[in-house]
Amino acid sequence: EKGGFGSFMDKEIHDQPQAVGDTLLGRTDLQGDLVLDDLRIDEAVLRTVDKIVVIACGTAAYAGHVAKYAIEHWCRIPVEVELAHEFRYRDPVVNEKTLVVAITQSGETMDTLMAVRHAREQGAKVISIVNTHGSTIPRESDAVLYTHAGPEIAVASTKAFLSQITAAYLLGLYLAQLRGNKFPDEIAEIYEALRAMPAKIQEVIDRGGRVREIARWMADTSSVLFLGRHVGFPVAMEGALKLKELAYIHAEGFAAGELKHGPIALIEPGQPVFVVVPSPRGRDSLHSKVISNIQEIRARGARTLVIAEDGDDAVLPFADEVFWVPQCPTLLSPLLTVVPLQIFACELATARGLDVDQPRNLAKSVTVE
Ligand code: F6R
Repeated sequence: EKGGFGSFMDKEIHDQPQAVGDTLLGRTDLQGDLVLDDLRIDEAVLRTVDKIVVIACGTAAYAGHVAKYAIEHWCRIPVEVELAHEFRYRDPVVNEKTLVVAITQSGETMDTLMAVRHAREQGAKVISIVNTHGSTIPRESDAVLYTHAGPEIAVASTKAFLSQITAAYLLGLYLAQLRGNKFPDEIAEIYEALRAMPAKIQEVIDRGGRVREIARWMADTSSVLFLGRHVGFPVAMEGALKLKELAYIHAEGFAAGELKHGPIALIEPGQPVFVVVPSPRGRDSLHSKVISNIQEIRARGARTLVIAEDGDDAVLPFADEVFWVPQCPTLLSPLLTVVPLQIFACELATARGLDVDQPRNLAKSVTVE
């Protein structure tokens, strides 16, 4: 069943190009317009919503953070992302003009379900992005957008995460089109870039040998930090979460801009730090700021493990290791930059002799609050 891989997680990492491809499949008509058949909600409502609130837990919430950057940019609708358990118990401002997007692999996460119920009681419409057909959350939502990742067996989420991000992009493009915020040719362009992503994800997986090697060397490491900025920030958080849950190693993700506001005090000689570098073709100021961050931590002795786009030679003077990913539009880049971090956590935990599919104290679906 593991298809020759050492673990379900390793197999599911390799399933990701297909999971993303299948989530995109059949969602445009002949004109290239997005068709979301299983999105049964009144379009008039979607035209008038004035706020989107994404609710989810864990990895699914990081997919929500990526969605925020994309949807706000494409649709100009304010997007909040909130952990479902926090949302539910703080009297959030939601009403008929709020669109709630619940993201969940299992469709059974109790915290997320309670938040969905609460939002609907306040009059909000709920669209859920779900992987598991026949689960509870889609039944209790106004509309569903299924991710087609296939069954995810390993407790730690990988292919469901990439599929959730993909589905959120589709939702963003659909809303942009519906609300007339973007010209159709721009939408078509982004959609084309999205269609090219499965092959690029495959490329990152194929290049995974070096990150595996480094992970094995680092099996005895006691702490790893992760830095990212813009969409690289949730990727850093996800990289840290994967390492905590699989390898039981202290790991923290930070927004790179936050470094000087505190976390830089953690840097001492030999501290490994992953840095997700934004594309130099995007907002150039962001790129150069992150390069300065790498320079700063390296000057304090950090071991810099850099994830950068092909051709970005600016990282070379300050990187102890570079894991290269193919070029793509910045907003889509999490689909690539998170993959070396997944491989790293999986390989390091395996090198420590741990069961990566069944980490201690965790369950695949958390059906209690
Ligand atoms: C992390 C992980 C969890 C889940 C979270 C939400 O690898 O798997 O953080 O993402 O428990 O689960 P779902 O998506 O089923 O609601």
